[in-house]
Amino acid sequence: MTAADADWEALRTVAREAMTHAYVPYSGYRVGVAALVDDGRTVSGCNVENASYGLGLCAECGMVSELHRTGGGRLTHFTCVDGNGDILVPCGRCRQLLHEFGGPDLLLETPAGIVPLSEMLPQAFGPEHLTQ
Ligand code: THU
Repeated sequence: MTAADADWEALRTVAREAMTHAYVPYSGYRVGVAALVDDGRTVSGCNVENASYGLGLCAECGMVSELHRTGGGRLTHFTCVDGNGDILVPCGRCRQLLHEFGGPDLLLETPAGIVPLSEMLPQAFGPEHLTQ
């Protein structure tokens, strides 16, 4: 499925619903994410913070956990929203998480349009480096 074929509005709706479940007593900053999987599944996540601030989990952490819990596969299309439901860029650490499970061709919805992950995380470190 190409960027044009994907129903980004539907994917954003899933991310917005996930965002409503965020646990953010410390930052007050809700995030929701959703992605399509190469077998047609949709996975999602919300951020879950912790009293030990550095242990907070980004929304993408929950999403990749759901990806594996529900059967694995590869992420193909991804979107991220803030507490207003507006499109948000994923943080740097989460770009690396997305790279592990979607690779450089994963399509991201960003405020600047649909772009491949290779544009958001150039020269990414990945599993292939471990075998070189
Ligand atoms: N956050 C995410 O969940 N994902 C991102 O890609 C950006 C940041 C969360 C982490 C923290 O709970 C809150 O946003 C404020 O940084």
